[in-house]
Amino acid sequence: MKHHAPVLQPFNVDAEILERFQKAAVSPDGLFEYPTGRPGLLALGYPADFVDSLPDSVAQCYCGVGNPFAPGLPGKGWRVLDVGCGAGVDALAASRIVGEEGHIAGLEFSPAMLARAAKNIRLSHAQTVSLHQGCAESLPFPDASFDMLISNGVYNLVPNKPRALAEAFRVLKSGGVFQIADQIRNSDQPPACPLPAPGAPQTESNWAK
Ligand SMILES: C[S@@+](CC[C@H](N)C(=O)[O-])C[C@H]1O[C@@H](n2cnc3c(N)ncnc32)[C@H](O)[C@@H]1O
Repeated sequence: MKHHAPVLQPFNVDAEILERFQKAAVSPDGLFEYPTGRPGLLALGYPADFVDSLPDSVAQCYCGVGNPFAPGLPGKGWRVLDVGCGAGVDALAASRIVGEEGHIAGLEFSPAMLARAAKNIRLSHAQTVSLHQGCAESLPFPDASFDMLISNGVYNLVPNKPRALAEAFRVLKSGGVFQIADQIRNSDQPPACPLPAPGAPQTESNWAK
């Protein structure tokens, strides 16, 4: 099993964000202006069989702003980094897609979220997810470590975006895929990638177990 216990270290992070996600690690209910938990997953087009496979206490933690898999799925055997993995629902989704030969690293700065992710990964019996405490601006991985980087509602929270993006492209292999869901303050721009209609399930067969 490649799941490492989180190493808790102090990080210079925004106290307000840390506090919000400390609460969200207990339950995201009522903390966000968009649907969270199972309703959020289904509204964003995560396949119903994946959503159904999650234990209630795991699905309830989901607080993503979008579906980072909507533009395309990672391949079997890929190494995927989930930046700001929160309680780990997207990391679990990725682990299911890449299969036993693949590996998912979840990176998160909140100790409370990291502890919840560790619990969720245990409850879901995921064998190929490792967890790492750290910041998006300083990724604790060697250059060219990953085939894909995903993230869900994180980069809008990161104070030093140029540095975080430089770090993302440092740890991606040449030709690796950078695929994030996020929110921006001005929403008059159309999305760069088509999003699934609300409630429309993704049907790609490689979501299958
Ligand atoms: C919307 S949640 C992620 C949702 C998650 N993917 C899921 O499956 O539910 C965003 C996460 O990003 C983390 N975060 C925010 N800023 C960060 C940073 N600079 N570095 C690392 N993690 C960060 C927060 O602590 C929070 O857990």
